[in-house]
Amino acid sequence: MTQVSPILLRNVPLFAGLENEEIDKLAAVATVRTFAKHAVVIREGEHADSIYLINSGKVKVLIGDSEGHEVILSILGPGDYFGEMSLIDSQPRSATVVSMEPVHFAVITKSDFDRCLAHNPRIVTHIMVELAKRLRSANSKIEGLALMDVHGRVARTLIQLAELHNGEMVVDQSLSQQDIANMVGASREMVSRTLRDLSANGFIHVEGKKIVVSHRTFSSKLD
Ligand code: CMP
Repeated sequence: MTQVSPILLRNVPLFAGLENEEIDKLAAVATVRTFAKHAVVIREGEHADSIYLINSGKVKVLIGDSEGHEVILSILGPGDYFGEMSLIDSQPRSATVVSMEPVHFAVITKSDFDRCLAHNPRIVTHIMVELAKRLRSANSKIEGLALMDVHGRVARTLIQLAELHNGEMVVDQSLSQQDIANMVGASREMVSRTLRDLSANGFIHVEGKKIVVSHRTFSSKLD
């Protein structure tokens, strides 16, 4: 397995503020792992021994059943990490993580990560903030499922996913309609119909795989 360059770790927000010496120590024990698109990186229920830091590419965090149904909890990209929960509570993996494109990670084992945490309380604070952020996002998802219709859930998800590109708010083009359906707890057909309605009403503009969210949508109440 290839060793990790300290420069890669210095660009990970989790390690912002670490002394060079600590980064070098982590880089010496971390390993590089790469996966092709659609690979299962970790699986819900597995025994856990490492945390993954994303250098490039995107992954989806999901829970699913044996029949292939899945709910996407989150999409993570460069600078994000996953696999910390099982290291914290010593329980099996809480979710499955699948690559959405070719991905490149730095992987740190539990014992090396524990040692780093013990010497760097700032990392503990960072992890607590990120856990709070993920809990808020999960609360918002529960609220959507319990209190919103599919139109509202799709619209809100598109707003959350849209990023500024050349003056337009564009949704990640690697997301399929099935992915959006798995994020909002609806069928792909229902999502397809909802996207057509939102487009007809001028809330979004669809060009092939590209979904542009109109500025009007950001200032509207869609529920
Ligand atoms: P772990 O339980 O070790 O393995 C699965 C990982 O998915 C988990 O750690 C977190 O890093 C990540 N994860 C689980 N639930 C969520 C969520 N609701 N939002 C974002 N990431 C999550």
